[in-house]
Amino acid sequence: MSAQIIDGQAIADEIRTNIAAEVARFQAQFGYPPGLGVVLVGDNPASAQYVRMKRRACESAGMKSVGHILPASATQAEVEAAVKALNDDPTIHGILVQLPLPPHIDEPTILSMVSLEKDVDGFHPINIGRLAMKGREPLFTPATPTGCMVLLERMGAQLEGANAVVIGRSNIVGMPVALMLMKANATVTVCHSRTRDLPEIVRRADVVIAAIGRPNYVKGNWLKPGAIVIDVGTNQIDDPTAPRGYRYVGDVEVATAQEVAGAITKVPGGVGPMTITLLMQNTLKSAWRSVGATT
Ligand code: GUN
Repeated sequence: MSAQIIDGQAIADEIRTNIAAEVARFQAQFGYPPGLGVVLVGDNPASAQYVRMKRRACESAGMKSVGHILPASATQAEVEAAVKALNDDPTIHGILVQLPLPPHIDEPTILSMVSLEKDVDGFHPINIGRLAMKGREPLFTPATPTGCMVLLERMGAQLEGANAVVIGRSNIVGMPVALMLMKANATVTVCHSRTRDLPEIVRRADVVIAAIGRPNYVKGNWLKPGAIVIDVGTNQIDDPTAPRGYRYVGDVEVATAQEVAGAITKVPGGVGPMTITLLMQNTLKSAWRSVGATT
């Protein structure tokens, strides 16, 4: 069997075209665009690159983007002041605090400070708490897990009653995507670095979400034939034949996995572009909500 390869970039581009049209409609109606505020602390190159890409994507869709770029030496009070300024700015509809924050910054306090109505990253404890509870709806769900769910929908995954295995339990991906799969009535198993017999567990999965951050970790012979595989990993590996001396691979060994899976996402060009797209969609949703509309 040769798996269908899912092009997340193409799906993201299609959704972004719709977002740009909606942004234009918002701008025409209210005379100002939806606005995203970003807080970046420190000089982690990957975080800086993500933030640049998020801001550029918003601006190319016609949204406003405001950045509070603080040095690694920023104090707790300075980071709190940046969040407060964005909370108080009526032209900002979504706030993103790029994670991880430097170790001396109290992350739970910062994430709790983000105005619930502007929490487009969905990391405010009330939004995450609502995601975890039956019968409650968060105002926003985190971008990467939501991107995974949109890809699953596009891949035709039947989640009701399906066995879904999530590999990784991070606050940013593994934990929230497990909660979202549960809300979609899948039977969810969350695996992590201390899980025993991981290949045996993965073999039972109709849907696999790999978000463990280890290059080529999940092998094709771990998969159930026909499984739908979402590869969230973006791991930099050395490659002397690549123009920059390195390239990115996912958490799944694609060469062996595509012989067994029914469908699998690309890396790069799979989940990554979807993350940015869902952040834009949440910001647009927040802007419409701020004027009392739901679309
Ligand atoms: N760091 C890595 N991914 C993310 C994300 O989706 N949101 C935030 N805020 N930080 C991240």
